[in-house]
Amino acid sequence: MKRVLSGIQSSGKLTIGNYIGALKNYVKLQDTHECFFSIVDLHAITVPQKPEELKEQTEAVAALYFASGVDPNKSSVFVQSHVPAHAELGWIMTTLSYMGEFERMTQFKDKSRKQDSIGVGLFTYPGLMAADILLYNADLVPVGDDQKQHLELTRDLANRFNQRFGECLKIPEPYIPEVGARIMSLDDGSNKMSKSNPNPNSYIAMLDEPDVLRKKIKRSTTDSGRDVLFDPVNKPEISNLMTIYSYCSTLSIKEIEQEYEGKGYGPFKKDLAEHVVATLEPIQQRYKEIRSSGELSKYLKQGAEQAADVANETLREIKEKMGFVLPY
Ligand code: TYM
Repeated sequence: MKRVLSGIQSSGKLTIGNYIGALKNYVKLQDTHECFFSIVDLHAITVPQKPEELKEQTEAVAALYFASGVDPNKSSVFVQSHVPAHAELGWIMTTLSYMGEFERMTQFKDKSRKQDSIGVGLFTYPGLMAADILLYNADLVPVGDDQKQHLELTRDLANRFNQRFGECLKIPEPYIPEVGARIMSLDDGSNKMSKSNPNPNSYIAMLDEPDVLRKKIKRSTTDSGRDVLFDPVNKPEISNLMTIYSYCSTLSIKEIEQEYEGKGYGPFKKDLAEHVVATLEPIQQRYKEIRSSGELSKYLKQGAEQAADVANETLREIKEKMGFVLPY
């Protein structure tokens, strides 16, 4: 069975972008693949986090995995810091990387622009991400479009390792949805929807109350004109809303165009809001149940044990190949 690894940072609220770009595919892949899904808290601390918030967000992301349909009996779900091999291989990967490679990463450029002083962890972030993936010899990595560059670097590092120390690491393939890989912000169709945007009206959080969802969608920015047409270049904002609509309903983009022909943006947005509510409400309900059930720590312990079994074996092989003296 082919193997899958992916992760989401425990920094801030998850958005419908995370759901469409990543989580939905996790749920799909778990029936046909051996899946490892991580809540990457070591990545989250590459920007300052308040201790009580980090804890809350880590548990919230884990609960959202399960609420979205990730099944602890099919997939191993674990917190990255519970498997110390990640930090250890992360260090090894940074020693195989070049400054220029990390400097080129657009996520680093974007995030460092927003900081007064740039943390070293933000810079070496891709080394740790490569470790996450390579520890599991993952065949596939389901991610949104913004992680493509990190994936390419991971592949380069795996190849470099194999050439220098002998074949050992699997070269992973990205798994990026054709539509929905880049859900845009509600207030600006040229910006990615992001949980770290200071304006909460720019994103649909998975845990937004139904009335908040309706309000945000109603006031979302739309392109000039009134035709509901899919044209990401000339009509990025309405096209983005149509992508969300399509994911939250059974209608294809073409069918949405037909449905709203001549009706304008108003009725489209009203229906979109109801589809988003109908998609997120059951997830929110399950989320509440999971959080109050006290089961979360049990699932995460089980996931970490399963993950550590695989990760520790790979790390041992890597260290052996590199000439480390292994513990006696
Ligand atoms: P993160 O935590 O920013 O996002 C988690 C996943 O959600 C996707 N995503 C989106 N997809 C579509 N539209 C959007 N607006 C949108 N926003 C986010 C991301 O592409 C991602 O798949 N570096 C990673 C976390 C990570 C990781 C890994 C991922 C660490 N180690 C190993 C895969 C494998 C990140 O920052 O994702």
